[in-house]
Amino acid sequence: MLTEAIKASIHESVLCWLATYDGDFPSVSPKEIFTYFNDKIIIANIASPQSAKNIQKSNAVCVSFINVLTQKGWKLKGTARLCDRSDTQAEAYFAILDNMTKGLYPYQKVFEITPIKGAEIIAPSYHYYPQISMEDRLEQAKKLYRL
Ligand SMILES: Cc1cc2nc3c(=O)[nH]c(=O)nc-3n(C[C@H](O)[C@H](O)[C@H](O)COP(=O)(O)O)c2cc1C
Repeated sequence: MLTEAIKASIHESVLCWLATYDGDFPSVSPKEIFTYFNDKIIIANIASPQSAKNIQKSNAVCVSFINVLTQKGWKLKGTARLCDRSDTQAEAYFAILDNMTKGLYPYQKVFEITPIKGAEIIAPSYHYYPQISMEDRLEQAKKLYRL
C-alpha cells in the first residue's frame, strides 16, 4: 500500500494531519513527528489526547500530508492503534521517532496506522494551468508562503 511515491511524499512533507472520529464529530490535528516503517505510518503522540481517545472508540482514521511547495501529497485511509514503549513490535517505531525528536519532545505512545487505501492530493492549478512549469510553481508557492 505504501508505494515509493507515497514514501517520497512523506519525506517531502513537514506536517501530516490526522483525522479521527469520536462518534459525533470528526476531529483533525497536525502532527510533525511522523514517518513510515515498512507498511505503517507512525506518528509520535506528543500532545494528542483527543486523537488517542477517539481511536479507542473508532480505529478508522485518515492521514493527509502535502509538500507545500509542489502542492501535491496524499490522503490515506486506514486503521490506527496506539503502541507504547513496552510493545516489542513497536521498538523500531520508537527508535525512528526518538531520532526525529532528538529528545526535545517527550512522548510515550505512537500512533501506528495501517493504510488501506490512498488517493493523491493535487492542487487544482495543475488541472487548470497545466502549462505552468514546476520551476514557476515552486516560485509561486515560495511567494505565497513568504519564503
Ligand atoms: C506544527 C505542529 C506540529 C505538531 N506536531 C505534533 C506531533 O508530532 N505529535 C503530537 O502529538 N502533537 C503534535 N502537535 C500538537 C497537536 O496538533 C495539538 O496538541 C492538537 O491540539 C492535538 O489534538 P488532538 O488531541 O485532537 O489530537 C503539533 C502541533 C503543531 C501546531
